[in-house]
Amino acid sequence: MAKGHKDKIAVITGGASGLGQAFAKRLAEEGVHVAIADIGAADATVKMVEAAGRQALACKCDVSSEESVKAMARGVEKKFGSCDILINCAGLFPNQAFDTMSFADWRRILATNLDGLFLVTSAFVPGMKQRGWGRIVNLSSSTVGSVVTGFVHYVTSKAGVVGFTRALASELGAHGITVNAIQPGLTRTPGALGRAPRAGFATMDDELKSVAQLQAIKRPEEPDDLVGAVSFLTSDDAAFITGQTLNVDGGRVRS
Ligand SMILES: NC(=O)c1ccc[n+]([C@@H]2O[C@H](COP(=O)([O-])OP(=O)(O)OC[C@H]3O[C@@H](n4cnc5c(N)ncnc54)[C@H](O)[C@@H]3O)[C@@H](O)[C@H]2O)c1
Repeated sequence: MAKGHKDKIAVITGGASGLGQAFAKRLAEEGVHVAIADIGAADATVKMVEAAGRQALACKCDVSSEESVKAMARGVEKKFGSCDILINCAGLFPNQAFDTMSFADWRRILATNLDGLFLVTSAFVPGMKQRGWGRIVNLSSSTVGSVVTGFVHYVTSKAGVVGFTRALASELGAHGITVNAIQPGLTRTPGALGRAPRAGFATMDDELKSVAQLQAIKRPEEPDDLVGAVSFLTSDDAAFITGQTLNVDGGRVRS
């Protein structure tokens, strides 16, 4: 069990599915109570957290809406009184060529992936500062350091996540709060399996297998491949690690 997790409170955006759900399950198994902030129904994740003997809260929340985020933060405050661990995982990643991208398409991705990051983090940092302890983990993507087509809006947003992580870490280090990012590779989640494959691939399964050949570890990435990194970065053992971006991608991107 990770050091310092017992009875902490985590808020996980995008926790109804995929990576966020895997993080909720692992943190709950390590003694953390979990609030899930997602635009979709989080019943399955709530069941997983409760099965681990921890308390769960499902908050219907659109992270790109200031009003919705404020309501979610009030709900977390009422139920748990604090947020010690924040995992910013909600994200959209449609595959779309640049020359078909409208300004509305661009804004939609930036609104969820970057405005959402700002709004949710802003809601919980004051409480972390008051308590002098906090762990923030943001989801970037290995696409920031790879050759990929069809994701200009997405890659821009995920590079922004890295900048946000570095800059915010500088402001919060003195308050016992660490801010780090992880960069998954292409991972088998409902979100990834539900998007259109990149040009040249007939199915997402073909794309997953092909990307795996670019990795040092030549098998498709699964959500469980990422939970150890999140567990560690949110533990007491990672108290001196901040402003960092960790590639968790089977060794595809080296930096
Ligand atoms: N799966 C991958 O290959 C991969 C790779 C690199 C990075 N990531 C990042 O990991 C994160 C999770 O991705 P995933 O693969 O688990 O996707 P997913 O689609 O399975 O899960 C994403 C969750 O975010 C929620 N969400 C979307 N928009 C929201 C909004 N506006 N407000 C609140 N919730 C919202 C969805 O309802 C969903 O439950 C994303 O930020 C994604 O960019 C994923």
